[in-house]
Amino acid sequence: MNQPALAAHVAQAPEHPAYVTNAKLRRWVAEVVRLTKPDRIYWCDGSKPEYDRLCNEMVASGMLIRLNPEKRPNSFLARSDPDDVARMEERTFVCSRDKEDAGPNNNWEPPLEMKATLNKLFDGCMRGRTLYVIPYSMGPLGSHIAHIGVELTDSPYVVVSMRVMTRIGRKVLEVLGPNGYFVPCLHSVGMPLAPGQKDVPWPSNRQHKYIVHFPEDKSIWSFGSGYGGNALLGKKCFALRIASVMAREQGWLAEHMLILGIQPPKGRKHYIAAAFPSACGKTNLAMLIPPKALKGWKVTTIGEDIAWIKPGKDGRLYAINPEAGAFGVAPGTSDQTNRNCMAALKRDTIFTNVALTPDGDVWWEGMTRKPPKKLIDWQGRPWTPDSGRKAAHPNARFTVHLSQIPSLDPEWENPDGVPISAFLFGGRRSTTVPLATEAFNWTHGVYLAATMASETTAAIVGKVGVVRRDPFAMLPFCGYHFGDYFKHWLNAGRGIQHPPRIFGVNWFRLDKNGKFMWPGFGENMRVLKWIVERCEGKAGAGQTPLGWMPRFEDLDWKGLKGMTRERFEELMSIDTGLWANELKEHSELFDKLKSRLPRELALQREMFELSL
Ligand code: GTP
Ligand code: SPV
Ligand code: MN
Repeated sequence: MNQPALAAHVAQAPEHPAYVTNAKLRRWVAEVVRLTKPDRIYWCDGSKPEYDRLCNEMVASGMLIRLNPEKRPNSFLARSDPDDVARMEERTFVCSRDKEDAGPNNNWEPPLEMKATLNKLFDGCMRGRTLYVIPYSMGPLGSHIAHIGVELTDSPYVVVSMRVMTRIGRKVLEVLGPNGYFVPCLHSVGMPLAPGQKDVPWPSNRQHKYIVHFPEDKSIWSFGSGYGGNALLGKKCFALRIASVMAREQGWLAEHMLILGIQPPKGRKHYIAAAFPSACGKTNLAMLIPPKALKGWKVTTIGEDIAWIKPGKDGRLYAINPEAGAFGVAPGTSDQTNRNCMAALKRDTIFTNVALTPDGDVWWEGMTRKPPKKLIDWQGRPWTPDSGRKAAHPNARFTVHLSQIPSLDPEWENPDGVPISAFLFGGRRSTTVPLATEAFNWTHGVYLAATMASETTAAIVGKVGVVRRDPFAMLPFCGYHFGDYFKHWLNAGRGIQHPPRIFGVNWFRLDKNGKFMWPGFGENMRVLKWIVERCEGKAGAGQTPLGWMPRFEDLDWKGLKGMTRERFEELMSIDTGLWANELKEHSELFDKLKSRLPRELALQREMFELSL
């Protein structure tokens, strides 16, 4: 690579390409080089030749496998260390000066102590490796809603992933200029190489993992993991944890939400932002293909994981997708569940922890009804359908640029964002929670979102299927005290003339036989249609203690077989016993947040209890 190499372990300021004018950036890189002692420094220009070169280098080193170019052109498979397969919430910290500011929703350690720990871990941690400098923009370059970060990493897999997921390279430094503001993000896989030591396909640190945020400095340090949200620091670390802190200070919102457009057959297009916890259907909903029977309805995609939302001059809320790619769950994705996504994955995709077919293509559970007879599983071992284990890891993912999604909305890079008509909140609940509800008003909607719960998924390391409160689907991502966050949301709706309506949904309710009661996927359009019509004052609903709920006659059933009034009523039923227990859990959550819980929410809970 034609940039000045740095003599190994020399404690001197590195040479920078002349175009790097930002003094703070130059100083910080020099400091990190002194600390981490990489063999080389490489400033990413963000070009396609650079991307291709890095991919080729990783193929040569064994970190990537090139897939069959006839089946998946320009696509690769990475296999992670089996100990490094998902976000690690237990190793994630928000180190504010005051413990109370991080809230009970975050792990905390005193920032000075944490910095001492990190300085020790990072000392010499890039020996034998290259330090890559990745300037990146979250949001369209130069948008007033966008922000710049710089990630320093010793993982080329992170570089190529960041090129798909964000906007990276020289053009970002041009926007940054000599004095521009950026969020410093330091990442290391935490596995230095001794001279002559052979690298492993997926370097990481089995002993020490830390994903740390300093909300006052607005800086991020991540050590020991190379996977997803732990390592692609623009995503959860910046665009959610640090951005949520910035958003509170500056009067906007940073949320774990997809953004989709709905064009009715006649009339104006609506945009909806929807929050679901990890692996609960954001990617699927964002790319939904409406059932044919709902003629003329069209869904377009703006984002599938994160939304940054700011008030506009016209009294509405405007959202951008700060990302440029999708890092989505592979298992369960098929032509039946998400045809748009399958089309996007046909080429130029990086797959991680999926299975490999004998002809050099990929496979995962749910992709086809019948699995192939023979595969290489996500750990590189031979696999057959009777192996008794999964071929792909349940949190196997694809990394793909949004421009490859057929349903992409033409406004997806509008620097001003798109106006939001409604917010949706949904968890994975096999019992208790009905298909759809509409909050009575903004405060009630904030209560609905604050008290939502979901069953845990493979997107996080830990037990799967445990119901936990996950307010706003932000439990792992809110960079400050949830009580303050609820207050911020209450204010966000009060401060504007046209607050979006707020809805709760649950696609995951099971019947007595353990089967999904709701067909889901494309059929979710029926609920979206009702939501749009509610926003336009056209659809009916019945009043219940939970909010406004669609009655059988309020939804469009054209072309859907098997949904009888009886079955629908079961899907919508409110079991007062189960809800009494929910209310107890709402209290437990509120007790934990008591010192900063807005009084409105405690009162809302009381009103709910009295109405049940
Ligand atoms: P992150 O990227 O982790 O934030 O998650 P996500 O919300 O984008 O998750 P994704 O859309 O990839 O969710 C995948 C999981 O949700 C798979 O198990 C799907 O089968 C399931 N899923 C998505 N939509 C539906 C639906 O409408 N009904 C049912 N039953 N399952 C669904
Ligand atoms: C999530 O877990 O919500 C994700 C995947 O979107 S990761 O980027 O790994 O956090
Ligand atoms: Mn997510």
